[in-house]
Amino acid sequence: MASQQTTLKEIYQQLKSSLKIAEAEQESRVILQTILGLSPSQLITEDTQIITKNQAAHIYSVRDQRNKTRTPLAYLLEEAAFGDMMLFVNQDVLIPRPETELLVKQTLAEIKIRDTHQPRILDLGTGSGCIAIALKRALPAARVYASDISKAALTVAAINAKQYEVDIEFVMGDYLEPFIGKSRSPVALPVMRGKPPYFDVIVSNPPYISEADYKELEPEVQHEPKHALTGFPYKQIKNQVLEAKLLEEGGFMAFEFGQGQRPQLEEIFPQAKFYKDLENNDRFLVWKNDPKSVMGFKPFDKGA
Ligand SMILES: C[S@@+](CC[C@H](N)C(=O)[O-])C[C@H]1O[C@@H](n2cnc3c(N)ncnc32)[C@H](O)[C@@H]1O
Repeated sequence: MASQQTTLKEIYQQLKSSLKIAEAEQESRVILQTILGLSPSQLITEDTQIITKNQAAHIYSVRDQRNKTRTPLAYLLEEAAFGDMMLFVNQDVLIPRPETELLVKQTLAEIKIRDTHQPRILDLGTGSGCIAIALKRALPAARVYASDISKAALTVAAINAKQYEVDIEFVMGDYLEPFIGKSRSPVALPVMRGKPPYFDVIVSNPPYISEADYKELEPEVQHEPKHALTGFPYKQIKNQVLEAKLLEEGGFMAFEFGQGQRPQLEEIFPQAKFYKDLENNDRFLVWKNDPKSVMGFKPFDKGA
């Protein structure tokens, strides 16, 4: 019967008023766009569209889980936006964050300055693959390597690479171990057929939250894998990179970091360039592997 049919406009109103979270309006739109396959403008212009019973059941089930468990919406919908991509995500990977898009943007800018023909790039701790895939899409000639300790995360990253039809070499292992020391030999990566340095760029959004801060996180964030959030040893990584000569001279590392970590990172990465996120927090650094200023950095240049 016509009177029992629910329109898009009606379900949007119901959703907004029954989602018990601060961002109810915004999340209602994301739920409807994703489940109904609508663009933001269609959500407005097609407000008389009839919602089928199955669609309504799906929409209400996502709402109920969101209300009950505080599971982040991206996990419930199994997708997250990163730049112009929609990536598959599940609870094995961190949900890509907008600030990481800035890390990608700056990494591309630094590569452009150097005009490296086929840059060899390592994305350390790739998670959903967001950084590696975005870089490879922007630089088709680059050789992009993406590593993670989690097999499940690499499976997600491979699904996303396939979806965007990019060729990325995935490596499973504990940070740099696949590229140095004993674990190195079995790895048959093209980049390792020659002698090091293997990379022009090492980029990472590592698990940088401290144990103390982890306990204070919103319930939503606690749904994300803990090993994706805490414990990155910046100093050890830098030393290993230099000792094993993994990074080309003039190449650079670009690392995201957390609240309050800049002072200690200034010690570890002297003359790094520091960048802020959209909230004006110090968020990532670029450190070049060359004492003779290739990029013209001044010590503790504030960055952009
Ligand atoms: C903060 S998440 C970032 C994921 C993704 N790059 C992003 O920006 O959304 C950090 C990633 O590092 C991985 N990781 C944690 N410990 C690791 C280790 N010891 N070796 C390699 N990867 C590790 C986690 O599995 C996780 O995928």
